[in-house]
Amino acid sequence: MNLHWIVLFTFIISIHAQTGSFPDCKSGPLSTFPICDQSLPSRQRAADLVSRMTTAEKITQLVTTAAAIPRLGLPKFEWWSEALHGVAYSPGVSFGGDLPAASSFPTPINLGASFNMSLVHRIASVISTEARAFNNEGRAGLVFFTPNINIFRDPRWGRGQETPGEDPFLTSQYVYALINGLQRGDDERYLKIAADCKHYAAYDLENWNGTDRFHFDARVSDLDLIETYMPPFETCIRDAKVASIMCSYNAVNGVPSCANKFILETIARESYRLDGFVVSDCGAVSTIMDSHHYTSTVEDTVAVALHAGTDLNCGDFYLKHTQEALDKKTIVEADIDQAVQRTFNVLIRLGYFDPPEQQPYRKLSHFDVDTVETRQLSLEAAHQSIVLLKNSNKALPLDINQLQNKRIALIGPTANATELMQGNYFGKAPFLLDPVTAFRGLAIGHSINVSFAYGCKIADGDQSGFSEAIELAKSSDVVIFFGGIDQSIESEGHDRTSIALPDIQLQLIQQLEKTVRSPLHIVIMSGSGLDLSYVRDSSQCASLIWMGYAGQSGGLALANVMFGDYNPGGRLPITMYPASYVDTVSMFDMQMRPSPTNPGRTYKFYTGQAVFEFGYGLSYTTFQYTWYNDTAESRMSVKSLMKNNFDEKKVQVHLYRVNVTNTGSVAGDDAVLAYVVPPQQSLNGQTPPLKKLFGFERVHLNVGETKQVFFPFNMESLLTVAHDGAKWLEPGSHKIIIGKQHMHTIHLYGKPARWS
Ligand SMILES: *[C@@H]1O[C@H](CO)[C@@H](O)[C@H](O)[C@H]1NC(C)=O
Ligand SMILES: *[C@@H]1O[C@H](CO)[C@@H](O)[C@H](O)[C@H]1NC(C)=O
Ligand SMILES: *[C@@H]1O[C@H](CO)[C@@H](O)[C@H](O)[C@H]1NC(C)=O
Ligand SMILES: *[C@@H]1O[C@H](CO)[C@@H](O)[C@H](O)[C@H]1NC(C)=O
Ligand SMILES: *[C@@H]1O[C@H](CO)[C@@H](O)[C@H](O)[C@H]1NC(C)=O
Ligand SMILES: *[C@@H]1O[C@H](CO)[C@@H](O)[C@H](O)[C@H]1NC(C)=O
Repeated sequence: MNLHWIVLFTFIISIHAQTGSFPDCKSGPLSTFPICDQSLPSRQRAADLVSRMTTAEKITQLVTTAAAIPRLGLPKFEWWSEALHGVAYSPGVSFGGDLPAASSFPTPINLGASFNMSLVHRIASVISTEARAFNNEGRAGLVFFTPNINIFRDPRWGRGQETPGEDPFLTSQYVYALINGLQRGDDERYLKIAADCKHYAAYDLENWNGTDRFHFDARVSDLDLIETYMPPFETCIRDAKVASIMCSYNAVNGVPSCANKFILETIARESYRLDGFVVSDCGAVSTIMDSHHYTSTVEDTVAVALHAGTDLNCGDFYLKHTQEALDKKTIVEADIDQAVQRTFNVLIRLGYFDPPEQQPYRKLSHFDVDTVETRQLSLEAAHQSIVLLKNSNKALPLDINQLQNKRIALIGPTANATELMQGNYFGKAPFLLDPVTAFRGLAIGHSINVSFAYGCKIADGDQSGFSEAIELAKSSDVVIFFGGIDQSIESEGHDRTSIALPDIQLQLIQQLEKTVRSPLHIVIMSGSGLDLSYVRDSSQCASLIWMGYAGQSGGLALANVMFGDYNPGGRLPITMYPASYVDTVSMFDMQMRPSPTNPGRTYKFYTGQAVFEFGYGLSYTTFQYTWYNDTAESRMSVKSLMKNNFDEKKVQVHLYRVNVTNTGSVAGDDAVLAYVVPPQQSLNGQTPPLKKLFGFERVHLNVGETKQVFFPFNMESLLTVAHDGAKWLEPGSHKIIIGKQHMHTIHLYGKPARWS
């Protein structure tokens, strides 16, 4: 968290956000103007309103804390609210009164692990419902700076926890489901809330080796931009039609994002057809000058940002310096008009100026927040996101009946985790159910003694708690170690330098191994990968679970999984690299493909041996895949495929059908992942991806049950990207892999052809 943010944050809390009052379209000065006329197109309404403001008034509307214009009956408006995985602390949000808390869901990295996009959609719908309730009671704005859809490129990144992981396809699917849940509800006339896809673009470094995000210039090739960094934003803008995007602190190829005409204007607006506004990350207009030194005067800074299309300034740079830019003629009044029209257009689409009686969203209240259903959903989401990484000799699930009169020891720094399970960007949760409390709750009625010893802190070297933990372990029948990391290790503004399990935790695990009566169980909380190879390989560690940061009911979800009341089906949305990975590549290196100074990034390009692979995750049951393979191979010509509508990447080349059968003895979920292995030689001279995900589906199967799963394979999945970002259709063999099995091969023949 940077200083700027803290200062602003404390300041806003102290003045107590007063959002939630609406413009008076009934009897106020606005009521006779087109802005209050619902029959007019929203753009026309916005343009008219802006035309009635004085220059000074317009300038007050260029910043996130926009002042009231009493003369026009326009209340003040705070544009900055947050809701990453639940309505969250931010300048626009306040908890209290009838709304002391909001649902706290697992973090996005957990939702990535669920591989269940209807879950993502349902959660997003709840968040937007609660957000509206907060707004109606004057406790939140209508614009929420969420989601974070940057690719989790490097395991050290402190904010990877805010994203659904490392894969552009998974992230695109996630953002599509999420934006629909946030922005669209039952009333098609209005945006439910306005979301904001951030941080555009190529932002995924906080502070590394002396360079922070305010100074970082991400040097990204056209190839990596088109293939990896942009796709989630393309989906967010073009397909999900988000109402706003946020330009990032970093520069992209020498130009600060908020001054970057190429990415904001050419790509986001012209190519992806952004219908909405661009907001700067908080302070990211002033950093154009102060950190990047891209400009040297305030008037030029206002000009480059406004001209690039940064419409709204989170911060106060526009407020302070726009008049000066006008005076010095680096901008004209029309530049301001355009920006304010774009932001007010979104307010109009939110129903801000329309009669409340006709708007279902305006009727939502505290009765719609933190309900029986939302509590169930948060628990369900935590269940679905838990990943079982090791389970030797079916050590799990624990049989609660066999533990009668026995003793379970929960040991370690995350066994009593509460806020820790909320990751970052969180609000006040209705409750936070830690593992110790949850285990005790389940043990009631079974006369099982559940005890807790802290053992050690997350990362400091103090061993003074070891002896108590070891004594407890000695006298216990089952010992579960709870480790991982927290926001002191990975957070906004703070990247990791090591991805090893903290040394103190490893030492405690090793001491416990010597004393336990039966092999240890290990549970890890983190928003990113850790080198867990010691646990994976040790015969004294029977099981290993990764549970991300699982939200308000994380402890209960974990207990349910360990006792077998829920059969885990989550899969890693990230590659877990060995600890040495960080020594082999600079965090500044944005390249995805391997090079002499880069072993390659993510499952698509990493050439080393992962500790646990992307997509890895076990179950208490077994699954079998079957398909008709009378056409195990097919041949197609490039020429015939090129006949497909040029613009239509979604043209289906094949539809794969796989039957998944639960062949074990308990019900369970399987996340079926479909990959394509492209031809391993490319005319472009680029290393092709080792494989790429093109479909996934999570299915629930009872014992013996079979379900058919469909994977459309479209043109996009066949294309390769050249060094200049152009997409090509190339001859060669494309292998389809479902899970780990080779299912089908498409042989493309003919001459390579440029697709786009
Ligand atoms: C967990 O327990 C330790 C040791 O008793 C204590 O210092 C810490 O505050 C507890 N954490 C929470 C979140 O309650
Ligand atoms: C569990 O065991 C501990 C350690 O012997 C003891 O202090 C505690 O009272 C027991 N708890 C219950 C509920 O029996
Ligand atoms: C990290 O910083 C040190 C000291 O300034 C420098 O020598 C080194 O080259 C830097 N490493 C990278 C990868 O930039
Ligand atoms: C068809 O698939 C089955 C597994 O589903 C496999 O055993 C068999 O060898 C395959 N046949 C061909 C021709 O690929
Ligand atoms: C897959 O399941 C469907 C319906 O359950 C069945 O009709 C079909 O024959 C099955 N296909 C294979 C390859 O087993
Ligand atoms: C996916 O999530 C939805 C929404 O919570 C749920 O109804 C469905 O059962 C989940 N799918 C699986 C396979 O678990």
